[in-house]
Amino acid sequence: MSDTSIDRLPDLQWIAAHDYCGRILFGPYSASLKRKVTEYVLRYHAFDQAVTPVIPYISAWHADSTTIWYEYAGRNLRRLLACPDGDLAAAFRQRTVDRHVYKRPSLQRPVARETLRQPDLRQLRPQLRRQQEAEGFVNAVYKVAIGDNAFCWLKDQAVVESYPQDRLCLSHGVLVDVTNEMVAEHELDAIQRQLLRHRQAIEATVRNQTKKLWSSQMEVVVRLARAAEFRDSSTGKHLTKISRYCAVVSKASGLPRVARRILSLAAPMHDIGKIGISDAILRKPGKLTASEFEQMKNHCHIGAQLLRGEESDVLRVARAIALSHHERWDGTGYPRQLNGRAIPLAARITAICDVFDALTSKRPYKPAWPVDKAVAEIRRNRGRQFDPQLVDIFLDNISKIKEIYHSHKEH
Ligand SMILES: [Fe+2]
Ligand SMILES: [Fe+2]
Repeated sequence: MSDTSIDRLPDLQWIAAHDYCGRILFGPYSASLKRKVTEYVLRYHAFDQAVTPVIPYISAWHADSTTIWYEYAGRNLRRLLACPDGDLAAAFRQRTVDRHVYKRPSLQRPVARETLRQPDLRQLRPQLRRQQEAEGFVNAVYKVAIGDNAFCWLKDQAVVESYPQDRLCLSHGVLVDVTNEMVAEHELDAIQRQLLRHRQAIEATVRNQTKKLWSSQMEVVVRLARAAEFRDSSTGKHLTKISRYCAVVSKASGLPRVARRILSLAAPMHDIGKIGISDAILRKPGKLTASEFEQMKNHCHIGAQLLRGEESDVLRVARAIALSHHERWDGTGYPRQLNGRAIPLAARITAICDVFDALTSKRPYKPAWPVDKAVAEIRRNRGRQFDPQLVDIFLDNISKIKEIYHSHKEH
């Protein structure tokens, strides 16, 4: 038998009579291609005779055409698609519902499933074929309709070969029926989706409950702070203004948004400890005696005690402010004589805003100062009572501070 003569292959006629469409062997193609196809057909036909759920196949297409045909297909494909041999490729294509490809970039990474559904699959077919030609293989799972609401899943594992001389490509390999595995996979997916929904519902409930708990804690604390404030301020606007002044300074200081929000909520609680100071001291119009002042100083510790043991960031910062808003940059403040950056930043910001508002507001023991006099007092205490950098920021943003001051001014 010569290398190029296929006519003398003893099995050729036999092959033609057994599940083989014969377009290549009996068509105008090169002898080398015909020899390859003969070899494959004989091999796959022998394989198909073994009792196995695997379906061997050889498909072919021309490089410049969208038509694909089965040069050879195992018996089970005809049984599944229930159509004449010549229509197998068209039937397979029409009945394919989707195509999955499983990818795992490395052993450490999870498997990712990429799914292409009709009609995208139909549109992308030429592109997929080019990709298979370039990669030299096919490894995909097809969901195929095989009756009323009945599907099977076929895993396609094949080699793709190009024959440029004949302007033709061959894909040959096996289709494995993986219906049971895919049904199990979809059931698992459904269970995982259900679990995810449950988990999201539980998380949402926990979030809501935490939020409710947090707002009821805040409600109590804010009411306490208001109660304390009403005892020595005639209007109660002090808390709102403190919060707004702190927002201006913290934003200009470059604090992140979350930290600014925490500070705005926490700063109004700075004097919550005044709830524990007697009216005689709190509302005394004149100067406090040394012993009265000592009692007054105690409002820092009382405030910190009231806010102790809480888990939220707002209350944690509020506690630091309550304890340290009377500390001074030069270390001569109270209650712990902290100095410089040892004083928590939130307390340093609150201190400036608190004093500015106290000076520009009317109190039982003093009239309201004109705003420029209060600004001068803040400047005068730069580096003494207050953090010099924060004073600079406060003064740089004085127009915004004045806007807040005027919008809350009592007429
Ligand atoms: Fe205070
Ligand atoms: Fe205050």
